[in-house]
Amino acid sequence: MVAIAALGDDTTDVTLIAIERIFFASAGRATFADAAERSAFRERWLGRYLDHDRAHVFLARDLDGAVAGYLVGCLDHPARSARFGDISYYSGFSDLTERYPAHLHINLDPAWRSQGIGGRLIDAFSQQAAEAGAPGVHVVTGAAARNVGFYRRCGFAPLREAQWNGNAILMMGRQLPVRPATTSGDALSQP
Ligand SMILES: CC(C)(COP(=O)(O)OP(=O)(O)OC[C@H]1O[C@@H](n2cnc3c(N)ncnc32)[C@H](O)[C@@H]1OP(=O)(O)O)[C@@H](O)C(=O)NCCC(=O)NCCS
Repeated sequence: MVAIAALGDDTTDVTLIAIERIFFASAGRATFADAAERSAFRERWLGRYLDHDRAHVFLARDLDGAVAGYLVGCLDHPARSARFGDISYYSGFSDLTERYPAHLHINLDPAWRSQGIGGRLIDAFSQQAAEAGAPGVHVVTGAAARNVGFYRRCGFAPLREAQWNGNAILMMGRQLPVRPATTSGDALSQP
């Protein structure tokens, strides 16, 4: 059993360390040339979201409160934002990000995968992004990655493939409904 909730004001070390542990366990690379390279990798795919997009971080926690997985997201148009200028694939996707400006990165602890939790995190962020007026949300993943099937089931359609750093990558997008903000201000309730 897990519950989905926004990170909110929980910036305790135990939570941030748990997020970082899941990030590196899911990263797809185990070795780095040195501490600086490891730190830059963390900053690119996780740190900048924790620092600047705290309102768009969602956690899945088990009954004991332990972090089972996380989603970090951003509503800013990444191809227009200097914050993402180091991610060169956006220059080739900028027409698509006009329609799907929000984006996310999601990772679950290996023990909690394939139990439907990822979709609940995606729904929580998508609902928040829709209420903020974003017309769509995108992800960029490996063209041959296993998670492509997961994103398809979450409503993401393949939009364009590209080569990046020697790998085939795939931009996928999900349109969001235009919906007014809830009067309760609670953007996080599950459907
Ligand atoms: C991708 C992920 C967030 C999906 O969440 P989930 O709760 O496990 O997903 P669901 O239970 O709804 O669906 C299971 C699907 O998740 C994906 N998945 C499960 N384990 C996975 C793994 N180790 N690597 C990649 N995708 C995985 C598959 O698409 C799987 O469907 P399949 O069995 O038909 O291949 C989660 O599995 C995960 O963290 N995977 C590893 C890291 C990752 O791929 N992150 C996304 C980077 S773009």
